Amino acid sequence: MTTLALASLSRRLAVLSLACLTTSAALAQNSSYEPQRGQAGKDVIWIPTPDETVTRMLQMVEVKPNDRVFDLGSGDGKIAIAAAREFGARATGLEYNPDMVGLSNRRAQEAGVADKVQFRQADIFQADFSSATVVTMYLLPELNLRLRPLLFKMTPGTRVVSHSFTMGDWAPDETARAGYGDVYMWHIPANASGSWKLSGAGLPDTSLTLAQRYQVVSGDAIFGELRASLVRPRISGAQISFGLRDPKGQLWQFEGQVAGARITGTATRPGQAGVPFEARRNGEASPIAATTAAAEQEASQIAASLTR
Ligand SMILES: C[S@@+](CC[C@H](N)C(=O)[O-])C[C@H]1O[C@@H](n2cnc3c(N)ncnc32)[C@H](O)[C@@H]1O
Repeated sequence: MTTLALASLSRRLAVLSLACLTTSAALAQNSSYEPQRGQAGKDVIWIPTPDETVTRMLQMVEVKPNDRVFDLGSGDGKIAIAAAREFGARATGLEYNPDMVGLSNRRAQEAGVADKVQFRQADIFQADFSSATVVTMYLLPELNLRLRPLLFKMTPGTRVVSHSFTMGDWAPDETARAGYGDVYMWHIPANASGSWKLSGAGLPDTSLTLAQRYQVVSGDAIFGELRASLVRPRISGAQISFGLRDPKGQLWQFEGQVAGARITGTATRPGQAGVPFEARRNGEASPIAATTAAAEQEASQIAASLTR
């Protein structure tokens, strides 16, 4: 190696060691990092959810050890840590502020749940949280609205819980008031909209037409000349249930699972054993939630009204 090359290498090493020193100094400094309530965040400030509200949120979504919980904007990590410590779940916190990510990792270590919890520095609008079975959040109304189209792409049955803020016109499945804020919970519904051909259950071939907005569903059945509305139709996650009065006037109760273009389940008449049924969708489903563009527009209107 020439003298010139050696000199250049040692200069580069010196720069590298200086960078290492700076990094370890920053790490040492960060290990005593103390967040300030109300400090700025990328899209919303940091305020921690009170302990009793955290517990209530996780109870409402019925967190189990096999759940995969994602807290969007995880702050000091308390929701993800509680999901692991109190409910045995695996949990991930997505947080934009790297100092908060470091703090959360240290708190997970202290709580003895570092094997179950991870925190990632990420922007919640860019990150992939599609593997979640439970999503928790304490953000802002307009941020919830911007997340709504992403939530509707998740597996039906995924549970979502929000501290303090709603999801526009998507009505919650359950609410509570715990601590200083309200809590809202939703199940992501399957999309059962469209035209279906129902068979089995000993019924004549039946056409069903279902309309759906979020988790609210209604519909009609047509048996030849007879048209009858579905009785108390309901969707919760992938589960659908409805009553149907057949041409003989008997009220059947249908309970099934929606899986893409197919519903399978059991139909029961009073006093009789259940029999299997199947329905297949003809054509396409319709959207059951506002489009991304409409949600963005609604979010901007809310943000503007809050700053007025
Ligand atoms: C109100 S705090 C809630 C913290 C925690 N989830 C809780 O309930 O205790 C919101 C957090 O979101 C973080 N945040 C803001 N915008 C974000 C973004 N785009 N991506 C990730 N985190 C964000 C903030 O830094 C803050 O820590």
